[in-house]
Amino acid sequence: MFQIIRSARRMAATAERLRLRRKRIGFVPTMGALHEGHCSLIRAARAKNDVVIASLFVNPLQFGPHEDFRRYPRPFRKDAQMARAAGADVLFAPSAKELYPEGFQTSVEVEKLGRRWEGASRPGHFRGVATVVALLFEITRPTCAYFGQKDYQQALVIQRLIADLHLPIKMAILPTVREPDGLAMSSRNAYLTADQRRQATVLFEVLRWAQAEIRSGQRQAAPLIEGMRRRLSEAPAARIDYVAIVEPRHLEPVWRLRGRVALLLAVWIGATRLIDNLLVDVR
Ligand code: PAF
Repeated sequence: MFQIIRSARRMAATAERLRLRRKRIGFVPTMGALHEGHCSLIRAARAKNDVVIASLFVNPLQFGPHEDFRRYPRPFRKDAQMARAAGADVLFAPSAKELYPEGFQTSVEVEKLGRRWEGASRPGHFRGVATVVALLFEITRPTCAYFGQKDYQQALVIQRLIADLHLPIKMAILPTVREPDGLAMSSRNAYLTADQRRQATVLFEVLRWAQAEIRSGQRQAAPLIEGMRRRLSEAPAARIDYVAIVEPRHLEPVWRLRGRVALLLAVWIGATRLIDNLLVDVR
């Protein structure tokens, strides 16, 4: 039966009982404002586990002082219905006081990987993410945790955290779910005006353009980056934060393409910062 748990102690006790009964726990951490991307993670967890726990917590630690923590959408009832319909058994929805009680001062940081790209643009962001995810792992004791490729660097940071802390948790990274016109699903898409929403498709378009160039033989990163930047600037609402071509494990920039590369983008569309990425095999 679907249940909503708000207390960390109760969630930990429930997870512990499930572990003792050797149940496989699939875990999907979210900040709510669920969309089809989250639901695909919950469905994947449902298919492979005995019990599915989704968490819903808008984590203040991962927002910078001028970011959208306050206005981040919080449609709790709709989220609970969607989590349940997608197959979650438990929705763990603690308050900030519950998760970070008075006196809380521990943090977890994945240093090098967490300081590049998103980490450079959003100082402290991945410390906040790693801290909350480590806490959520400790409380929910999952067998396997599910993350979306849309937040590619976040997925690598969590992978590193699991390895470095020797956590007995498997991790699944599932493909980005896109709108029919290619825009990656994101809770932040709701901030876009109709005109910005139309322009936001430029992110995926330039990723596809670069992928096609690579497939037709382009092996130099510089002209690709320049072409991507030029195409992005053709959308009047777009302001580039970064465009990068990197090797896909450590996210170091590459100049000559071989093996597999990750194309990374962060672009402001009006006042909304969107990210997207594509992994491309260079044959
Ligand atoms: O990807 C997110 O929604 C968040 O960063 C996460 C993993 C739930 C941690 O707050």
